[in-house]
Amino acid sequence: TKRNLILAIETSCDETSVAVVENGHRLLSNIVASQIKSHMRFGGVVPEIASRHHVEQITQCIEEALEEASVAYQELSAVAVTNGPGLVGALLIGVNAAKAIAYAYNLPLIAVNHMAGHIYANRLIQPLVFPLLALVVSGGHTELVYMEEDGKFEIIGETRDDAAGEAYDKIGRVLGLPYPGGKRIDEMAQIGKDTYHFPRAMLKDDNYDFSFSGLKSSFINLVHNAKQKGEELDADNLAASFQASVVEVLVTKTIRAAKELGVKQLVLAGGVAANQGLRNGLSKAMAQELPEVEFLIPPLALCGDNAAMIGAAAYIEYNQQQFADYDLNAQPGLTF
Ligand code: KG4
Ligand code: ZN
Repeated sequence: TKRNLILAIETSCDETSVAVVENGHRLLSNIVASQIKSHMRFGGVVPEIASRHHVEQITQCIEEALEEASVAYQELSAVAVTNGPGLVGALLIGVNAAKAIAYAYNLPLIAVNHMAGHIYANRLIQPLVFPLLALVVSGGHTELVYMEEDGKFEIIGETRDDAAGEAYDKIGRVLGLPYPGGKRIDEMAQIGKDTYHFPRAMLKDDNYDFSFSGLKSSFINLVHNAKQKGEELDADNLAASFQASVVEVLVTKTIRAAKELGVKQLVLAGGVAANQGLRNGLSKAMAQELPEVEFLIPPLALCGDNAAMIGAAAYIEYNQQQFADYDLNAQPGLTF
């Protein structure tokens, strides 16, 4: 039987990534060119700089991904690309590169939602089992997504303000950490203890929504007040206290939703899925409260933005013959 080979492209934010995925789950190559160093001195992603880097990197990344996979353009089954959500200028580089290849080699073009990609990162490890619940936590989003079957997404809860990763990066800045601070705060939290007891927003509310801006404000106020009084605070304990609040709310509401919806599988996804506190907290809670429900976490390398996850999600659309036209555009605000 013929191999299905999808060339996948991801340029929604500050990673230029190209992958070749076989049959929707076998990763043949996954090139990720990070731009973090160029954005660091600005304390966040600068959209114009991101676009310029994508332009410089994309051709090279495509060549490398094909070479590493030992696949020629002529062998490809389709070209997939993230068309949103993300930075419009950044998305457009990937969308246009994908269109050019699709046109030149007469291949079907597949548009992939970045958040679907994060969820399907799990498919690169194990088959998905439905109905499933996905907790998607990244720098731009925090969502609970219910999936009855492949390719069907229903947001049942989401953040009302900051995304979890965004909150991490903002308090990272207050602690003087380089952007993005999420990973470093996670490391500090492993050392510290929850001594500051920040609030757990919306924990008891009868919905699946989240809020992290109140927590962020409590954190900032505590640090500023201490500074004014000349008091010393323990940075590791601050990180641990912040993380304890984020993890408790995410874990509690996710477990509650998984129980109430009676899902067969729970999957964690997005950049913040790399968080050790969250991985451990959710694993432990699942083992205790829902031992019959399978729990998947992507390996660390597939939590952050990458094109392999886009290739995995694209395979579902390929099988459903859901192809995009050459007038495909970037959709910065794309939702499910
Ligand atoms: O999914 P992603 O790579 O990009 C978006 O689609 O947003 O997620 C990036 C986010 C950043 O906010 C980063 O600080 C956060 O994921 N992050 C973490 C950790 N590793 C990355 N946050 C907490 N703990 C981590 N270990
Ligand atoms: Zn992402």
